Amino acid sequence: MGEIIKVAMPKGRIYKQAAALFREAGLSIPSDVDESRRLVISLPEIGMEFIMAKPVDVPTYVEYGVADIGIVGKDVLMEENRDVYELLDLGIARCRMSVIALPDWKPGIHQRVATKYPNVASQYFREQGQQVEVIKLNGSIELAPLIGLADRIVDMVETGRTLKENGLVEMESIFEITSRLVANRVSYRMKNGEIQAVCDALNRVIQGTGIES
Ligand code: PRP
Repeated sequence: MGEIIKVAMPKGRIYKQAAALFREAGLSIPSDVDESRRLVISLPEIGMEFIMAKPVDVPTYVEYGVADIGIVGKDVLMEENRDVYELLDLGIARCRMSVIALPDWKPGIHQRVATKYPNVASQYFREQGQQVEVIKLNGSIELAPLIGLADRIVDMVETGRTLKENGLVEMESIFEITSRLVANRVSYRMKNGEIQAVCDALNRVIQGTGIES
């Protein structure tokens, strides 16, 4: 039996999809883990310990090596810019990062953009040669153009339902988002066999070749 792998798992909606993928890969997470409020969950039967993290903090735990691997959205990786090793595109939690506005939006003199992703937004508008003031919000970003805090927003679009119900339009898609498997650089060397085995098992599911018999 190899070493225990510490896994930073995102709490909330990505967890369900990630857990389903693990189970398909033959990593049988007991069902009581799904509803548990425990934050550190030991799973010796699959050689893992789960660290139940707020999704945005996953790259931080992995960079500092308190988690060996983690599951995190490309949106968070782009925003947080942490030094982690991206191993695999898991293809789950698929959505996109977009620029959004009211349908009658026109470029003004002083433009304000609200977002949960200030680094992503600043970089994007800098590359576009547009000077904007970026305002950081922590949620319900679509409110900003509706109540006049900002002209545009940079946010995730999944089904497009939030936009539609609030009368907003997607002006441009900046990049596609999916969840990724990431590893701490030192852990990847020290626990290479164990981490590579998890990566291969997940990859077989993603490639549709199922679990190894
Ligand atoms: C996310 C995102 C959008 C919405 C997109 O918000 O910020 O608001 O989901 O999904 P849709 O295209 O399927 O409607 P989330 O629910 O995470 O909450 P938040 O507003 O607090 O960020």
